[in-house]
Amino acid sequence: MAEAENLHDARTAPVLVWEQLKHLKGDDLKAWRVSEVDNLRSREERNIDLPMPFGWFALCYSDELAVGEVKPLRYFERDLVVWRGEDGAPRTLDAYCPHLGAHLGYGGKVSGNLIECPFHSWRMEGDGSVQEIPYSKSIPPKMKKPACERAYPTREANGFVWVWYHPENIEPLYELEVFEEVGHPDWSAYEKHEWIVYGPMQTIAENGADAAHFQYIHGVADSPNYDITFDGHKRTAEVHAKMGTPRGLVDGTIAYGVVGAGQPWTRFTGICETLLITGVAPIARDVTHIRFAFTQLKSDRDGDNGGVAKAIIRDICKQLDQDKVVWDRQRYIAAPPLCAGDGPINDFRDFFRQFYAGAEYDKYRESAKTRSISR
Ligand code: FES
Ligand SMILES: [Fe+2]
Repeated sequence: MAEAENLHDARTAPVLVWEQLKHLKGDDLKAWRVSEVDNLRSREERNIDLPMPFGWFALCYSDELAVGEVKPLRYFERDLVVWRGEDGAPRTLDAYCPHLGAHLGYGGKVSGNLIECPFHSWRMEGDGSVQEIPYSKSIPPKMKKPACERAYPTREANGFVWVWYHPENIEPLYELEVFEEVGHPDWSAYEKHEWIVYGPMQTIAENGADAAHFQYIHGVADSPNYDITFDGHKRTAEVHAKMGTPRGLVDGTIAYGVVGAGQPWTRFTGICETLLITGVAPIARDVTHIRFAFTQLKSDRDGDNGGVAKAIIRDICKQLDQDKVVWDRQRYIAAPPLCAGDGPINDFRDFFRQFYAGAEYDKYRESAKTRSISR
């Protein structure tokens, strides 16, 4: 525990949020991270009328979906079924069978690379087309084309299964970034942590551009010195900060990036080489699933730096806990009164807006006009 205490060297006196969190340990902390929030206010009361963004989002870890396994999932305010065919590839469809609407995720099974419905055993391909009907000589022609409401382009990268979601069902507009460290023999197996946050993707992603909050809710001694680059569908930043370690303050570099709306990664160098792949996906417009997957250079994690390696992960997770306390109850301020020192929050919002499209976004823009919001 000495390492954890020393991490506070770089910090101001504990704030109330830390006081609330410090009583949560071990399994209680894990449960708190994914539990429903007491007195959760409605989307309307919190003014969260942001649309669902499009992009690649993490459905599950690769090792949570074995060959022949079927999983019911819920993301994007839709019921989904994901399965892994005998060829090893994951596939994702809207969960309801096009025949009479059974949920394919409950009792459905894998047959070759097809998903078989539990109700009358129709078999569907990953594009949503019906390939076999066991009791009928012919397949209705309309069912031979993609017949399920939606089929989601599904890929595997960095130890996660990702799907492409677009409100208008448009094919992927960009690709995932692949990290060679994941699964490399010199790098450790993932250490995994997860949260359910009662806030929209945009608000959570805004955290990186919110310069002032680092000092006040995370207690970082100085506002870190960093530059954000907005480049097409990518956002990157390099942050130079003094990092608290069991050996005192050390100059560290944190490089982070986000590919589109939903693939953030963070690389910590200077003390113990650490790569954090974040698997994030909207469950609803105001509920977000966050998974942190850490891999560290084994020579750092298993050597003299072992204590530091663990402390880095603990500290990053603690920061997410602290943000979650705010996010779970935060109201969305569409035109915030920003001042010097707040960081490039408006530039971030301009960047993030590129991931909204479709009728929901049109409705949002209309309602923003009637609320006299210029942005
Ligand atoms: S409902 Fe799926 S096969 Fe009939
Ligand atoms: Fe934060």
